[in-house]
Amino acid sequence: MTQRTNRPHVLMMSEITADGKLTLRKGASSKILMKYMAHETELLLHTTRAEYDAIMVGANTIRIDNSFLTVRYVQGKSPLRVIPCSMADIPLDANVLGTDAPTAIAVCEAAPKEKIEAIKAKGASVIVAGKTHVELPLLMQILKEQFGVNKLMIEGGPTLNFHMLHDQLVDEIRLIHLPFIVGGSDTPSLVGGMHINTEDEMIRLSLKKFYLCGSNLVSEFDVLYSEV
Ligand SMILES: NC(=O)c1ccc[n+]([C@@H]2O[C@H](COP(=O)([O-])OP(=O)(O)OC[C@H]3O[C@@H](n4cnc5c(N)ncnc54)[C@H](OP(=O)(O)O)[C@@H]3O)[C@@H](O)[C@H]2O)c1
Repeated sequence: MTQRTNRPHVLMMSEITADGKLTLRKGASSKILMKYMAHETELLLHTTRAEYDAIMVGANTIRIDNSFLTVRYVQGKSPLRVIPCSMADIPLDANVLGTDAPTAIAVCEAAPKEKIEAIKAKGASVIVAGKTHVELPLLMQILKEQFGVNKLMIEGGPTLNFHMLHDQLVDEIRLIHLPFIVGGSDTPSLVGGMHINTEDEMIRLSLKKFYLCGSNLVSEFDVLYSEV
């Protein structure tokens, strides 16, 4: 387990429906839901991005949402965009490979060399972290030690959220609650991954704050890991 000092402070921030979903249905872009965020909440999201050294989303969110992950609605510097993509098969026309902010794609040692070179040719950095898949604790250590990332925010999706929580790499969670129910047993929710078997495996949170931002409820939690 990477010690807390060897990694950035990590905030997980997400827009979720009242039934805990991140999008309308499996495979749908969360940009559709995000259209319903209050303007004040969009400003909160972009202000938070500007306060962080780096922002990370999973490769599947890039494939589905084609996110920019930049600071656009407030003044401020866009953070380093970090995308874990084990085999380096991120679409080369993805918006995160544009030049409007720096980007690092995290891959594993098994990633094809030509795909790595194609990413580098787009101007992005490539971080090799792990043999057969991206090892998130190692990636966190590299981001801190080689890229000077002290504060990282992650914006999903559920697969990345699950692995970051499972590896005990998340310190805080901030949720923007959208007043909708979308349903669907396979609709992506805040945290995907495996089921737990006992209550001992529940990840405990401590509610820090809740407030209205425009018309949206925002809640903030600390993550309590028993071993930290
Ligand atoms: N409402 C919101 O705030 C919000 C935010 C983000 C996303 N979303 C939604 O979430 C959905 C996508 O979520 P998703 O769960 O399918 O995908 P995801 O979490 O965005 O990405 C998961 C992918 O990241 C790559 N990855 C590489 N190393 C990893 C590691 N160690 N741990 C975890 N992932 C790793 C893997 O792809 P490779 O196999 O290619 O390496 C993996 O399949 C979309 O519908 C999107 O709209 C909503």
